[in-house]
Amino acid sequence: MSEDLPVTRWESADNTGFAAHFTHLIESGADVEGEARLADAMLPRGATVLDAGAGFGRVGAALQKRGHRVVAAEKDADLLAMGAERYPDLPMVRSDILALTPELLESAGHPTAYDLVVVVGNVMVLLAPDTERRVLGTLAALLADGGRILVGFHPQDGPADSARDYPVEEFRADAESVGLTLQHRFGSYELAPPSDAYCVAVLSR
Ligand SMILES: C[S@@+](CC[C@H](N)C(=O)[O-])C[C@H]1O[C@@H](n2cnc3c(N)ncnc32)[C@H](O)[C@@H]1O
Repeated sequence: MSEDLPVTRWESADNTGFAAHFTHLIESGADVEGEARLADAMLPRGATVLDAGAGFGRVGAALQKRGHRVVAAEKDADLLAMGAERYPDLPMVRSDILALTPELLESAGHPTAYDLVVVVGNVMVLLAPDTERRVLGTLAALLADGGRILVGFHPQDGPADSARDYPVEEFRADAESVGLTLQHRFGSYELAPPSDAYCVAVLSR
């Protein structure tokens, strides 16, 4: 992975609690598949899915279980190692989202165009500062015809200390600047009405 890539908000803070928190949730039988259920409802059977900023692959693995061809891309080596242990059959790529190109994916034997890109779990508010447009543009370039991007984040007061505030109108402007349209906006993965507390968005080209 290129060392020239900017440091993400995730990398610049101590986020070791994330893995422990989700391990506890999963082991206590809590529902951690809300994002995947909505993503699955958006897709035909056997679709191609890119889980961008996948963490340890929680969402990607839940989509793979539902029959989709999933690739999980993540930058954090510890989370990748956790994913490899927990979901050994989930294809994972170590990469910054900014470095995800069709060439890189092809060289690793993965699809180069996706029916759905999922960027959930606050990835958008944990990117490197001022890279939101580049990240959205990079992901837009990986969409298949008719492909969409499912995004989920806390616009303010995110759970990670390092998360930025990201008003939804700023997010919309960033998406539009790279040729994406905010097709749908909800307040939860159960499609609650839009709210300031959480943003679930569907973007299309
Ligand atoms: C709160 S975790 C969420 C992980 C996963 N999406 C989930 O919902 O379980 C945020 C993730 O975003 C990733 N991330 C942030 N910026 C990134 C970037 N530029 N490239 C790749 N991953 C990134 C972090 O490494 C971290 O794994």
